[in-house]
Amino acid sequence: MFILRVLIRNNISYSLHKRKIIQQWPCINKPPPSQQQQQRSLSSWGTAFLIVAGVPAGLYLYKCIMLVLFQNKLIYMGYIPPGSRHEQCTPDKIPSNLNITEQTIQTPDRKQLKGFVVERKQNGNTFSMTQDLPSQQEEQRRPIIIYFQGNAGNMIHRFDLFNKMLQAVPEATIIGICPRGFGSSSGRSSERGLEIDAQCILHYASSSSAFDIHRPIYIYGHSLGGGVAIGLLAKNVNQQQRIHGLILENTYTSILDMVKTLYPRYTPYPLIAKYFLWNHWPSLTRIHKIKTPILFLSSEKDEIVPAEHMQKLYNKFMTMSGCSDGSRMVKFPRSTHMDIYQVESVAFKSALHTFINDNNNKVIDKQ
Ligand SMILES: *[C@@H]1O[C@H](CO)[C@@H](O)[C@H](O)[C@H]1NC(C)=O
Repeated sequence: MFILRVLIRNNISYSLHKRKIIQQWPCINKPPPSQQQQQRSLSSWGTAFLIVAGVPAGLYLYKCIMLVLFQNKLIYMGYIPPGSRHEQCTPDKIPSNLNITEQTIQTPDRKQLKGFVVERKQNGNTFSMTQDLPSQQEEQRRPIIIYFQGNAGNMIHRFDLFNKMLQAVPEATIIGICPRGFGSSSGRSSERGLEIDAQCILHYASSSSAFDIHRPIYIYGHSLGGGVAIGLLAKNVNQQQRIHGLILENTYTSILDMVKTLYPRYTPYPLIAKYFLWNHWPSLTRIHKIKTPILFLSSEKDEIVPAEHMQKLYNKFMTMSGCSDGSRMVKFPRSTHMDIYQVESVAFKSALHTFINDNNNKVIDKQ
């Protein structure tokens, strides 16, 4: 389009020019041959230049427009790895010591969110719901961990992680529900959509008859899920007494900051993103509103989200939230974006165990 228009304009100015020349030579029909040749060769040089420069420029413009239009596809990649959407949870995918129940949650805008409630298999009656007092007290201390996933794959891919988490906190229940556009959940992902989903999942965890209403809730967010978790807690400041802690693993300060990380400054992408992003997840400008302790889990070798994003979130939270008590940052020097629980599993389990234990006890002391 752009090139066509330039070519047309170029042709028009050329013919205008020719007419002027003809007018300047009223008695002769043709301008002197030498000048005409000069005009022609100048014009064809111009056209050649426009094609050489214009084609790449046009393609580049096209690429920029596509990046903007398809940003949801680049930010929410529920279709990666292939087969992640509507993957069946067959028994061979379930670690043998986990008790996994499928769960569907309906949102107010009629999306079906599918996922799992994950516990350790009961051996003996350690966590049984009997009526005698010590056991009920025990039941009311069992943490519920809501897990918000990163921007690819589904919850089946997280079963090994859940297994490690339950080794650290054996009495916990993990609620892993795929937001819209991921796994077997319906709909398409968007920032607003994921916010609605997070609110519904929190509502399910805090008011379903399946769970004792005294049980402490923890929210765990990895990568994009960290942005979802921070957004959820920042919006529900009044409800935060039910939520005893937040765990953030390798999450970013905002989508715009991620664009700046992915594309160097001399490219136009950061500038384009500044005006044309409609997905923000502005965690850095929200995190100070959170009034529950936070455990920051940061991989120093993160190849996707630079570790400084976690550092910035940590610094802002510790200086501005007034809730630094019980919060801490644990750094994993050998881990990358997704593999803390595999590469440094002992340190991972210990960090999780200590954080949840400390914050459970603190609340019991208050009561
Ligand atoms: C699995 O979980 C369900 C629902 O919480 C429970 O009824 C069942 O007893 C559990 N099974 C085992 C083997 O732990």
